[in-house]
Formats: sequence, structure tokens, C-alpha cells
Amino acid sequence: MKKIILTLIFTLVIIIAATTAYMYSGAYDVGQMVPHNSITKWMIRTTTHHSINKRLKDIKVPVLNDTAMFVEGFLHYNEMCVMCHGAPGIDPGEMAEGLYPSPPKFYKSNNMPDPDESFWIIKNGIKMTSMPAFGPSHTDKSIWDITAFFLNKMNTMSPEEYQSWVKKYAE
Ligand code: HEC
Repeated sequence: MKKIILTLIFTLVIIIAATTAYMYSGAYDVGQMVPHNSITKWMIRTTTHHSINKRLKDIKVPVLNDTAMFVEGFLHYNEMCVMCHGAPGIDPGEMAEGLYPSPPKFYKSNNMPDPDESFWIIKNGIKMTSMPAFGPSHTDKSIWDITAFFLNKMNTMSPEEYQSWVKKYAE
């Protein structure tokens, strides 16, 4: 028994020493240009997925197909999201090309998040990515408006219609 405990302690000390040595060595490239290796990527994706899922249970999704909501949500989306996520006929801006992980393009995507998940992500952001938290600057109502617009309206719009909304509501 004593031998097992000593072996465990010894292994732990080696792991901590090796990790600390690696951190101090500068070998890890923190730049955005070098992707994570597949193990790190899997660890981050799995942690993110379970972390968000665990936090969704108290979120009550309101009705998200009201025109007034779409217009309000559009104004926020057009101002704060297009540069990273794009919009109908609009590619994400230059800044988004240098982001890692890269922001998903939502227009005509088959891989849209669920409404409660979207609400939580917009409100809280995602650590160590460039996805900001809009909770400190926006009410829950505004965040639902944004969710309604980009999940239920944007994909039905043509680039021309999106531009007509820009002229009508945002200029
Ligand atoms: C500075 C860039 C940036 C801005 C601005 C930004 N996002 Fe993001 N967003 C990201 C990145 C990067 C990710 C991917 C994070 C990841 O891979 O874990 C993301 C992820 C998301 C997701 C999760 C997508 C999915 O499939 O799980 C949603 C929803 C989202 N953003 C909505 C928005 C909305 C709405 C706005 C505007 C209010 C916005 N974002 C503004 C960079 C941005």
C-alpha cells in the first residue's frame, strides 16, 4: 500500500514538474496562426459543449417570430455581429480572417445553434475565443431580439432585402 502511494506521489510530482517546465520553456505557440493540436481541440470542444449545456436548463425561450423583434435584432446584429459572422451578401470583415477559432458564418448555414444556446452564448460569450459577452451591455430582451433575427429572419433574406433593411432602419 505504502509503495503504491509513494509511486502515485512520485508520478504526480513528475507530471507537475514536466508541465511547469513546458510552460516556462516557451515552446507553446500562443499565436492565433498555429491551430491547436487535436487533443487540445477535443478538450476545448468537449468542455465548451458540456459547460454550455449544463447552463441552459433555466432558460425559457420566448416566441421568436415577431416583426418588431426582427427589426430590433437586425439593428444590433448589423452593428455588432456582421464584422465577425457576416450577413446576407456580406462577408465577415478583415479582422475575422485573423481570428482563431474562426467565427462561423450564419447565413445559409445548416449548422445553426438552438435558440437557448444562442441566447446563452450571446449573453455570456465564450472564454479564449473572440466571441464577446453582450450581457454586460444589453438587456435579456435585446439579446432575444438578436437571437430572433439571426435564427428566424436572416436566413430567409436575400442580400438585396438585407441591404433594403440597412437603408430603411440603420441609416
Ligand atoms: C470579434 C468577433 C465576434 C463578434 C463581434 C461576435 N462573435 Fe459570435 N463568435 C465568434 C467566434 C470566434 C465564435 C466561435 C467560438 C467557438 O468556436 O467556440 C462565435 C460563436 C458564436 C455563436 C455560437 C455558434 C455555434 O454554432 O455554436 C453564436 C450564437 C454567436 N457567436 C453569435 C454572435 C452574435 C449574435 C454576435 C453579435 C451580437 C456575435 N456573435 C458577435 C466571434 C464573434
